[in-house]
Amino acid sequence: MEKKVLLSEEQPGFGEGLLKALAMDPVEVVKTVKDSGIRGRGGAGFPAGLKWGLAAAASSQVKYVVCNADEGEPGTFKDRVLIEKYSRRLFEGMAVAGYAIGSAQGIVYLRAEYEYLVPVLEEAAGLSVGEGLLGENIRDTGFSFNIEIRVGAGAYVCGEETALLESLEGRAGLPRNKPPYPVSSGYLGKPTVINNVETFCAIPYIILNGAEWYFDLGVGECSGTKLFSISGDVERPGVYELPMGSPLAELLELAGADDVQAVQVGGASGRTIAAQDLGKPLSFKGLPPGGSVIVFDSSVEMTGVLENFMEFFVHESCGQCTPCREGTPQLLKAVEAVMSGAVSSIQELDDYFTLARVMKTTSKCGLGQTAANCFVDIITGFTEFHDHGHHHQGGDV
Ligand SMILES: Cc1cc2nc3c(=O)[nH]c(=O)nc-3n(C[C@H](O)[C@H](O)[C@H](O)COP(=O)(O)O)c2cc1C
Ligand code: SF4
Repeated sequence: MEKKVLLSEEQPGFGEGLLKALAMDPVEVVKTVKDSGIRGRGGAGFPAGLKWGLAAAASSQVKYVVCNADEGEPGTFKDRVLIEKYSRRLFEGMAVAGYAIGSAQGIVYLRAEYEYLVPVLEEAAGLSVGEGLLGENIRDTGFSFNIEIRVGAGAYVCGEETALLESLEGRAGLPRNKPPYPVSSGYLGKPTVINNVETFCAIPYIILNGAEWYFDLGVGECSGTKLFSISGDVERPGVYELPMGSPLAELLELAGADDVQAVQVGGASGRTIAAQDLGKPLSFKGLPPGGSVIVFDSSVEMTGVLENFMEFFVHESCGQCTPCREGTPQLLKAVEAVMSGAVSSIQELDDYFTLARVMKTTSKCGLGQTAANCFVDIITGFTEFHDHGHHHQGGDV
């Protein structure tokens, strides 16, 4: 069932969650976020409370709260909807994070394509400042929190949190080595919490209604609700909110998908699912709940889709490390060979499946680590090689 919280018609007033947090001890705020079980909504699913606790424990006079609004994963547009409708909720969540970790400065990193949303964000910030919910000495609590809005330059890799920090600092968006993690050395070398737009937007509800309430919104062991952007061959594309752990089939029903050949879940870097797997849950242990769901009906040539994704990765690889820089064009070459009929057995692709595993294990950042997912899934699941019983060949990258 569609269970709406972030997108609910009945919203609590902006600032109620922040004011409740400001009456709590910062340690208690972090504990509430931890107990809620919320994991980052940007894709990787790191527990938000744990991240906040680490940043809170870092000793520094200056710390930062950064919102990742890069939303670069193909097929994802949920953060755009949140920014358009609920920028003030986003700022509220960021301010709660600032209070929890001891930071007075928030930065929203907006993807270049969303530059037109800058006035929306600025107007929302102005309203919040006007009501004493942002800015200096918020409601006479002694806590100050300011927001700055920054716009990226259009690189997918800048959604990766350390590339994002490089970009914020005015350099090319090349992912950093980790550790150190941003919680200890982030923006300008200071402890920094980076969370996705949706993660921050959920925080005020968690503070207002409690950790247990939030946790119980999810299915079974999953916590909370999740936004999904669904597009492709569906009758009603758009953004839907479902309990985390809901089966993919439920989302497809809401969006109206009758003829399903394949579903790309979690964007280009996610997984490509066949019709028999639609009952699987969207969760951090199941189908990647990153936010993007693209449906392909039976008329779609899936190798063409794969070619498109591989071209994307070749283009977006930052070139900093060898497995990703050299591996992505090799995989594209293999796709083109398959499409032209130059490959007659899956054994001929063995070296490429080995390459896929090497890329997953040795690439420096998540881009290279996941770029081969679509190759393995589509070649083994949606080509003529599918029926030859070689599904195990590629293994699970
Ligand atoms: C190539 C790449 C692109 C990414 N793009 C985004 C993005 O657009 N938005 C986002 O929130 N996280 C993105 N991430 C994940 C971030 O590195 C980071 O995990 C996230 O911002 C943390 O916030 P969260 O814990 O609230 O999800 C990306 C990661 C990689 C490797
Ligand atoms: S995996 Fe790709 S995008 Fe990431 S650092 Fe290496 S070359 Fe750059």
